[in-house]
Amino acid sequence: MIERLDARVDEIRKKIKGVEDKKVASEVFDKSTLLTLWELANKGAIDLLYGVIKTGKESNVFLGKGKKGEPLAVKIHRITTSDYKSMIRYMDGDYRFRGIRKSKRSIVYTWVKKEFKNLKVAGECGIAAPKPIAYKNNVLIMEFVGEDEVSSPMLRSCWLRNPEEVLNKIVEYVKKLYCEGNLVHSDLSEYNILIKDEQPVFIDFSQAVIKEHPTAQEFLKRDVANIAKFFRKHTTCASKYTDESEILSYVAECKKPRVKTRFSALHQQAFQTT
Ligand SMILES: Nc1ncnc2c1ncn2[C@@H]1O[C@H](COP(=O)(O)OP(=O)(O)OP(=O)(O)O)[C@@H](O)[C@H]1O
Ligand SMILES: [Mg+2]
Repeated sequence: MIERLDARVDEIRKKIKGVEDKKVASEVFDKSTLLTLWELANKGAIDLLYGVIKTGKESNVFLGKGKKGEPLAVKIHRITTSDYKSMIRYMDGDYRFRGIRKSKRSIVYTWVKKEFKNLKVAGECGIAAPKPIAYKNNVLIMEFVGEDEVSSPMLRSCWLRNPEEVLNKIVEYVKKLYCEGNLVHSDLSEYNILIKDEQPVFIDFSQAVIKEHPTAQEFLKRDVANIAKFFRKHTTCASKYTDESEILSYVAECKKPRVKTRFSALHQQAFQTT
């Protein structure tokens, strides 16, 4: 049995390329993660890993390739360096994850499952976000957002030709996620929105909570505040667009007419006064 597992570990190791950083390789690809990757490869969810997109303290995102050669993003959480206490704060109060065993490993596994499920909801609501493909244990495989194997840039490092349109879209997505998906992203900022073809794409959904979570309203307020602040500081958007309380009442009032209509009216007003 052990021999068979070792053979699998060796087999999958050969399929990991382009990770030259030895520290990253040894910390991220422990035996258990290699076996998880083997299982995902065996299921046909991934063919190989061939580059690092981002290395962080808690998770690493790698460039992968699917069976048909399509690029994939593979997010791998490190068990040892994850912030469990913070993860629990975003899971307690979410009926979807009630009664999970609270060993460090099971918390991280649930965290990954949570991101997969949240991404699914986001896609179903029509929000531009990576399509989730598969998950197992501490590994999440999703659609790659980028071109020619280069990730799309974060909103924070983009010069926008059409800031109002991008802000409009972001607000529309926050509202859709809240009203149709019953979720609050809870870590929304210029760091977790990529810009592809001048359009926003939301990423990093692991901490998204259901509306009924005890601090959902606080998180929604923080998400909106982050976005408003970014657009106030970094673009030429008129101040009316970026009024936090205006945006917040918009997104939280689920029966109101679609955001786009109201925002377009606001745009026109603002242009008339400037
Ligand atoms: N689907 C994707 N396609 C392309 N690049 C991605 C994708 N997902 C993540 N990335 C890249 O990896 C970076 C980190 O991803 P993400 O924000 O999900 O992780 P994180 O901030 O480390 O997450 P967490 O807070 O859950 O630890 C992103 O800024 C982006 O550059
Ligand atoms: Mg992030």
